[in-house]
Amino acid sequence: MNKDEDNRTENQSHVEAAEFSIFYGAKQAVNRATLSIPSGEVTAIIGPSGCGKSTFLRAINRMNDLVPGCRTEGRLLFDGQDLYSPHVDVVTLRRRVGMVFQRANPFPKSIFDNVAYGPRLHGRVSRADCGRK
Ligand SMILES: Nc1ncnc2c1ncn2[C@@H]1O[C@H](COP(=O)(O)OP(=O)(O)O)[C@@H](O)[C@H]1O
Ligand SMILES: [Mg+2]
Repeated sequence: MNKDEDNRTENQSHVEAAEFSIFYGAKQAVNRATLSIPSGEVTAIIGPSGCGKSTFLRAINRMNDLVPGCRTEGRLLFDGQDLYSPHVDVVTLRRRVGMVFQRANPFPKSIFDNVAYGPRLHGRVSRADCGRK
């Protein structure tokens, strides 16, 4: 989302789910979740294994799009914008919504290249600086 699309207003939730459901085919993994996540605070989602925590988190950067047969109902807003609207640019969204997974998932590269991947991708560090000991 670029700045023009950032239609945030004060006191608005950073992430807001309204009757938001997620299905894997016929199986419902998240059942009409309604919750509000403010910015600048730490919010924890707690529940038993399999209750849909990871599925819900993955929805916030549209990662479930990669799962065939996965669909949603209801609304999930990010700074007031419906994340499942056809206007959302998923690549831009994923620049703003990152995820750190339970298990490390390295790229098939060296340890050095894995560590340097993020800074290089964002152009924050020159190649020479990345290699400096
Ligand atoms: N890719 C998938 N395809 C089908 N079912 C899935 C998939 N991922 C998760 N599920 C199912 O969705 C439900 C919620 O899973 P998950 O979100 O991983 O729960 P949690 O993170 O709370 O342990 C579980 O029943 C799980 O088996
Ligand atoms: Mg999980």
